[in-house]
Amino acid sequence: MLIEIFLLVIVCVLSYQINKKKIRKFFFKNNIKSCDIEEVDNAFSTFEKDKLFTPKKDTIINFFCIPPNFGVLGMTSDYEAWILSVLAKKSKRIFEFGTCSGKTTMLFAMNSSDQTLIDTITLDEALANTYKHETNDNKIAQRNLLSESKYEKFLFSETPYEKKINVIFQDSRQLDTSKLKEKFDLIFIDGGHTYSCIKNDSEKSLEMIKANGIILWHDFSIGKKSHKDVARYLNELSTRYKIKHIKNTSLCFLKT
Ligand SMILES: C[S@@+](CC[C@H](N)C(=O)[O-])C[C@H]1O[C@@H](n2cnc3c(N)ncnc32)[C@H](O)[C@@H]1O
Repeated sequence: MLIEIFLLVIVCVLSYQINKKKIRKFFFKNNIKSCDIEEVDNAFSTFEKDKLFTPKKDTIINFFCIPPNFGVLGMTSDYEAWILSVLAKKSKRIFEFGTCSGKTTMLFAMNSSDQTLIDTITLDEALANTYKHETNDNKIAQRNLLSESKYEKFLFSETPYEKKINVIFQDSRQLDTSKLKEKFDLIFIDGGHTYSCIKNDSEKSLEMIKANGIILWHDFSIGKKSHKDVARYLNELSTRYKIKHIKNTSLCFLKT
């Protein structure tokens, strides 16, 4: 009898360990609806040709890939990077919270017009080391914030794209938005993934975005521990704003 109980406990622990993300997802009350890519922008609507969906000219982009074994941190998936690059094509002013290696920043620069200006805010190692978190901030997100703040040179440094990019080394909680109100067509929120940081970046973005602009959030993945605060905060915000999740990505968006 004792052996059977012991085996049952082992089976329960193992199945929890294997399925914990699914279990957490099952219990999380999510109110954000997922939508097809066509809802994000007209550029993504496709037409059928010989049973294939031919991409529109607007969705053909400049692109590069970084092999996963290069150890570059905090990257978007190729599909997410393509979506962001397509949106950059029609954006004159772009703001990014969280630069990291500068992969997305560089894609923004490679795909936008010559007149486009891109601001990107990030922490260096010194700023991250003195960063004061709030009591309820997710602990894994706190650790990731530290490890992802190691870049001072970026993928676009010393390339022709650098002239379109303004890197701001500052804690986004200290960002003064008084001169940035309604200035941006596209804002990408991918900075700190703690509750206090995502709340700060989202509230500031809502002031900074223009009418007919778009805000996108990265790492909306329910059940993933390090992204718990992103899912929690976006669900709260979705009671006031029409936020949607893009299927097959960890991106959410809001059109203004
Ligand atoms: C997930 S990475 C960004 C990845 C990048 N957007 C990309 O697509 O390659 C997170 C970045 O946010 C920055 N960050 C975290 N908290 C921040 C804060 N409070 N203010 C400014 N930057 C912050 C980190 O320094 C790091 O560079």
